[in-house]
Amino acid sequence: MAMAMAMASSFPMLTTTTFFFFFLLLSSVDSRFVVEKSSIRVLSPEHIRARHDGAIANFGVPDYGGTMTGVVVYPDKATTGCSGFDGPPFKSKSGRPVVLLLDRGDCYFALKAWNGQKAGAAAVLVADSIDEPLITMDTPEESRDEGYIEKITIPSVLINRAFGDALKLALEKRTEEVVVKLDWREAMPHPDERVEYEFWTNSNDECGIRCEEQMNFVKNFKGHAQLLERGGFTQFTPHYITWFCPEPFLLSRQCKSQCINHGRYCAPDPEQDFNEGYDGKDVVVENLRQLCVHRVANESNRPWLWWDFVTDFHIRCSMKEKKYSKDCPNDVIKSLGLPLDKIKECMGNPEDDVENSVLKAEQQLQVGRGSRGDVTILPTLVINNVQYRGILERTSVLKAICAGFKESTEPPVCLSSDIETNQCLDDDGGCWRDKDLNITACKDTFRGRICECPIVDGVQYKGDGYSFCKAVGPARCAVGNGGCWSETKNGQTFSACSEYELNGCHCPLGFRGDGHTCEDVNECQEGLACQCDGCTCKNTWGGYDCKCKGNHLYIKGEDTCIAKSTSAFGWFITLVVLACVAGAAVAAYLFYKYRLRSYMDTEIMAIMSQYMPLDNQHNAAQPLRPDSNI
Ligand SMILES: *[C@@H]1O[C@H](CO)[C@@H](O)[C@H](O)[C@H]1NC(C)=O
Ligand SMILES: *[C@@H]1O[C@H](CO)[C@@H](O)[C@H](O)[C@H]1NC(C)=O
Repeated sequence: MAMAMAMASSFPMLTTTTFFFFFLLLSSVDSRFVVEKSSIRVLSPEHIRARHDGAIANFGVPDYGGTMTGVVVYPDKATTGCSGFDGPPFKSKSGRPVVLLLDRGDCYFALKAWNGQKAGAAAVLVADSIDEPLITMDTPEESRDEGYIEKITIPSVLINRAFGDALKLALEKRTEEVVVKLDWREAMPHPDERVEYEFWTNSNDECGIRCEEQMNFVKNFKGHAQLLERGGFTQFTPHYITWFCPEPFLLSRQCKSQCINHGRYCAPDPEQDFNEGYDGKDVVVENLRQLCVHRVANESNRPWLWWDFVTDFHIRCSMKEKKYSKDCPNDVIKSLGLPLDKIKECMGNPEDDVENSVLKAEQQLQVGRGSRGDVTILPTLVINNVQYRGILERTSVLKAICAGFKESTEPPVCLSSDIETNQCLDDDGGCWRDKDLNITACKDTFRGRICECPIVDGVQYKGDGYSFCKAVGPARCAVGNGGCWSETKNGQTFSACSEYELNGCHCPLGFRGDGHTCEDVNECQEGLACQCDGCTCKNTWGGYDCKCKGNHLYIKGEDTCIAKSTSAFGWFITLVVLACVAGAAVAAYLFYKYRLRSYMDTEIMAIMSQYMPLDNQHNAAQPLRPDSNI
């Protein structure tokens, strides 16, 4: 029953006193509300590794189709999160997103989430305070006045008390970070290439904040909805809740003014006052008209016209402006080019004591079947037979619909920047980045951010995407010098990146280091060069200068001095030595080229062999094993 209580605030219509003698069709059977869940996997510490369920809150933006790995933080004090958090934002040691753990109680769930978001949390886990099955955290009507509900952009999840206690215990030890992976991928079924979704709504525009919320959603989502419907990516069906009048009240004034078809289909009075303004009857008729508009438009293969009708109707025929009558909607129908007679035929005569097949079907659909659960809240959005949880807002809903497509069959609108999560804006989503080069492994998608080493100017980076990415491939030195050391002094540049090596950094000759930092070697001091007798050695950047004693000439390759003799013999010696040096240089060069070629050959062979069996490897065939596929 705690579940029913938690949801009670979401029955704006059932709480009205004037309404006690109408029955929602469901109240005769056992009302079934489905708690939609996501999964939470504890990754560390080892001893509490397990998978748990969390109930997705009906506010904020659940990461449908995506996952989030974060570090659990439990505040030292004010653990209910009701009073907000001053001080610096929550941070994790590893720089991963913070999943803030808060206790249930003392204030609205949504306020906890809002305070958590303001304090830097990427998601909020609310630990239940009693042992009970999971419930759906909802938003109370009153707190909407404060305006923070619309600003909650992080996901929130309720976890059961035992799981909350286990997390707190692990955090008390403070030995290692408690890492959890929140997973919404299975929260939305994604069986095929078409998403079926339905929206349970109401034509009434005077029911307060919920009516405004659903109207704003319809207006804002219209563009996406029509695009998806025209492309055949989705099949959308609008639905309307109706009530019925119990037998003993059939002839009462109340049932007569609130119901059509002899008490069969009713709606609560919009003003909750039977003597004033519009009656429930008017609302049922308009709801029926909107249903028939969809029916008829669907028959002419233009089901998306419902969205136009509903938005135009709201603008032209609003209850507020007292234009909620049957002439006004007919003008809208005509302006959209829909056949008025067919719609009238579909609606039938509301005064007749007969069933209306359209409304009858709606009443039957209100009762949940399979995984869906009953529709008891307005507005309710059902996607692939699962009730949507979270804020009723354009991008958040589009994300959920996109998650309902079989992976890689999402329509283009799902991959547009419109529904990027923008998680990369904040600290690059915790992914690898190179601040100097302004490159990051963070990629925004509707499924959430992913950390994937990028391709920059055609150069592929490889790595885990979180802690490292490195440029690989032939052109790698062109981007940020392949992540290697490079320095220019007095117009002279040295680099630890070599185009001839597919990866790695190696300090050039005359330098020493790991390739990411290189330092000049002082050849003179270390006795590496200029060892000739009486020579004077002067270290330079990346090299050295050696001067011989007196009239002698320094031969670098040989690290020796020879006399600068003007005699023919002297010249001859010099020439011989120079010829030897040149010969040695040519030989060294050829050897180097050969080595390089063979190095690259093996490197390329190694890469290719990952893709195809090479012939010479094939010859050394291994004995075939019957279970070679493992
Ligand atoms: C709309 O039309 C399609 C076929 O064109 C049909 O499968 C679907 O059930 C129709 N929807 C409604 C609500 O009538
Ligand atoms: C980094 O690149 C992004 C887009 O690629 C750009 O918006 C941003 O201003 C750049 N930042 C710096 C510091 O260059």
